[in-house]
Amino acid sequence: MRAALILSLVLVPACFKPLDAPLAEIPKLGSIEEVMRANETVAGPQWKMEGATSYTDEDWAKAKDASARLAALAERSKEFSRGDAFNKWADTMGEQAKALGAAAEAKDAAAAGKAIGGMKGACKGCHSETR
Ligand code: HEC
Repeated sequence: MRAALILSLVLVPACFKPLDAPLAEIPKLGSIEEVMRANETVAGPQWKMEGATSYTDEDWAKAKDASARLAALAERSKEFSRGDAFNKWADTMGEQAKALGAAAEAKDAAAAGKAIGGMKGACKGCHSETR
């Protein structure tokens, strides 16, 4: 727990302010910065599950919640699109977020880990090509 906290402090830019946007508020987020702050806040706790071999019921509930919110955030990000590469990565992020939800529904830890890895790849891919 403490190690995960320290790790997240190292990985996240110093200026990062958490934004724990509820699902219903996501379509109203007003800037790419808000969408990204919410991405970081919602996805952050999922990263440490990437290699998990077993989930508790609470973990699955959190994965389902993160899936719904990250899919909505990927969709919302396109409001602030920077072109084709951006849209492609936003779609990839949305697909992987939905795959996480399907994995949570099936309680399939391997599939969840794969979706989380795919989502991380979409964050990184989009940042390297459009940020
Ligand atoms: C479709 C493209 C795209 C995807 C996918 C994406 N990002 Fe971003 N992200 C950006 C861009 C562009 C910026 C720079 C925004 C700016 O200029 O203010 C950014 C900025 C950020 C920032 C800095 C925000 C700030 O305060 O300025 C964070 C944190 C972040 N992204 C986290 C994430 C996480 C976590 C994910 C994956 C769950 C993710 N992003 C997925 C495009 C993307």
